[in-house]
Amino acid sequence: MEKFYFEKPSLTRKEEAIEYLNEHVKYNSEINGHGGLKKMLSDSSYTYEKWLENLVLIQDKEYAESINWVPSSTFFTIRKSDNKIVGMVNIRHYLNDHLKKISGHIGYGIRPTERRKGYAKIQLYMALLEAQKLGLDKVMIDCIVSNVASEKTIQALGGVFGEQVYDEVNDYTLNNYWLNVDECINKYKDIYEQYIYRGDE
Ligand SMILES: CC(C)(COP(=O)(O)OP(=O)(O)OC[C@H]1O[C@@H](n2cnc3c(N)ncnc32)[C@H](O)[C@@H]1OP(=O)(O)O)[C@@H](O)C(=O)NCCC(=O)NCCS
Repeated sequence: MEKFYFEKPSLTRKEEAIEYLNEHVKYNSEINGHGGLKKMLSDSSYTYEKWLENLVLIQDKEYAESINWVPSSTFFTIRKSDNKIVGMVNIRHYLNDHLKKISGHIGYGIRPTERRKGYAKIQLYMALLEAQKLGLDKVMIDCIVSNVASEKTIQALGGVFGEQVYDEVNDYTLNNYWLNVDECINKYKDIYEQYIYRGDE
């Protein structure tokens, strides 16, 4: 059985992270949970090193709020068997007025060539464990109404529909879901806990 763990981005994964990013371009796919890495595609002066610096800065409340954002943590989801990045997750430590309506607490994605293997569900369970560590009781996650895969992922972990919101900037409609962190972890731990690598095997 494949096992997974979260890893904080570092210089060690530079080539691999860029390859992860480029795979989305190759497959013309949306990328989520990247914590700003995508900026490398549109801004040639934005380097992987700058992204790493920004990931450290953005964890600081004062800095994050000074740029109208909130502190957040970004993780690579690593598959233990081949040490490969299969997904990325970005967790916002709390919500501001914008995030309450759009984007919520958790953004995530699985690389195109590793989709439809159940990885997004495992990854979301892992994100809930991180949310629990941050002391979050409930988390909001949204998805574009047509994003069936994401909707099913959220529902598989116990997401309860909250409201529908229109995102004027991007011209799409989103469904917001809420997950009670402790309840969802308890309810689904028998299914997902077995997929987590905790460094003791
Ligand atoms: C959404 C995404 C994370 C799903 O990743 P994944 O690893 O393929 O998802 P899983 O294999 O864990 O499947 C989750 C559920 O969605 C279903 N699903 C996955 N891909 C699907 C598709 N293309 N069409 C319909 N259902 C799909 C699965 O069958 C599963 O449902 P089930 O529990 O009823 O069996 C991935 O497609 C992705 O990264 N998309 C681009 C970024 C994105 O949309 N992120 C979410 C933003 S809200």
